[in-house]
Amino acid sequence: MKADDGILREDLDNILDGLTERERRALAGRTVLVTGFAGSLGFMLARFFARHGQELGVRRVYALDNYVFGKPGWAREIAEHPLFTVREGDVTREDFAFAGDADLIFHLASLASPVHYRRHPIETMDADVVGLRRLLDFYRDKGIFNLLFYSTSEVYGDPAPDAVPTRETYWGNVNTSGPRACYDESKRYAETLCYNFHHQAAFPVTVLRPFNSFGPGLRTNDQRAPADFALDVLRNEPIVLYSDGKATRTFCYASDTTLASLKCALYARYDIFNIGNDAEEMTVRELAEIFRAAGQSLFGYSGDVIHREHADKHYNTDNPRRRRPDLTKIRTTLGYAPAVSTRAGVERYLRYLKAVDSSQGLLHVSP
Ligand SMILES: NC(=O)c1ccc[n+]([C@@H]2O[C@H](COP(=O)([O-])OP(=O)(O)OC[C@H]3O[C@@H](n4cnc5c(N)ncnc54)[C@H](O)[C@@H]3O)[C@@H](O)[C@H]2O)c1
Repeated sequence: MKADDGILREDLDNILDGLTERERRALAGRTVLVTGFAGSLGFMLARFFARHGQELGVRRVYALDNYVFGKPGWAREIAEHPLFTVREGDVTREDFAFAGDADLIFHLASLASPVHYRRHPIETMDADVVGLRRLLDFYRDKGIFNLLFYSTSEVYGDPAPDAVPTRETYWGNVNTSGPRACYDESKRYAETLCYNFHHQAAFPVTVLRPFNSFGPGLRTNDQRAPADFALDVLRNEPIVLYSDGKATRTFCYASDTTLASLKCALYARYDIFNIGNDAEEMTVRELAEIFRAAGQSLFGYSGDVIHREHADKHYNTDNPRRRRPDLTKIRTTLGYAPAVSTRAGVERYLRYLKAVDSSQGLLHVSP
């Protein structure tokens, strides 16, 4: 880790502090596989294992990615870590023999940014559905500890007003055939695969439904709103809204997302958990204003929030109007509570981006 990664170090230490004794013990002796480790959430998870894995007694971490967005500089750094075996490969084609002894699997591989999954809809579906199916088949008789499947809050589609905040029991309101369907519907099918492998084959699997997450690891050219806003601030250019800014979301800082993910993985029972930040539902415009104010106080940023049409004509098609998790289940079952407010998270993300060197691969060439 580079000397200027103070924010990241604190984040990783906060994740460790959030794990209970039982959860720490459950990590000891584990061999981990992370698919899609080079993406936004894989970054914090992989860096956590790099910083704390050995002291927790983790045996090995296999990290797989096909680098659809390019190979980030930090992935090269991770490859030199003694705990890690990094492999360039595709979950839809791998036979996973290289990670045959893995017993704790995090299946992240997908394309989570709407602009990118609309550009690569079939690859997105394949990573979620075929990739998951291949993992389930390969590890079926291997007696693994758990597989954590990263689903999404998008399985809820555009929830009915009385279903917000949204509980895990809500069935969803989703279009099967629009430009977002490749992502939403493949996650829904994948959740059903998890359900049936658990019930028919006693496969140990837990399903995670993350709501919007942001922070270190989210590439500044990812094209999700927090990444766009951060890039605008860092360039001292106007913050551009590509919608009317009225849709509401909650924004969870990456260390909280990672802590919640670890807790769900180590729960090691079949269940479905919302994860995210339930405290502050805000409009996208309000998020832009938070970035503007944080940029101003941190670096003297002087831009305004403006509106422009996005080149992707489907940028706003089927965009859910509201998104807010009900976190009662994870709060009561696993003792998770988000610790970082959106404002504090935005400041941390901006300070992190400002401090790190671009050689760490924060700005990738678009696929
Ligand atoms: N970040 C969020 O806010 C969020 C919200 C809801 C759900 N999720 C889910 O969490 C997971 C991780 O999200 P993220 O934001 O890190 O995604 P991301 O798009 O930033 O990264 C995904 C990674 O998967 C890799 N990948 C894609 N297809 C692959 C394949 N066939 N084989 C191997 N690697 C492949 C990509 O190269 C990339 O590095 C995803 O499954 C996503 O759907 C994320």
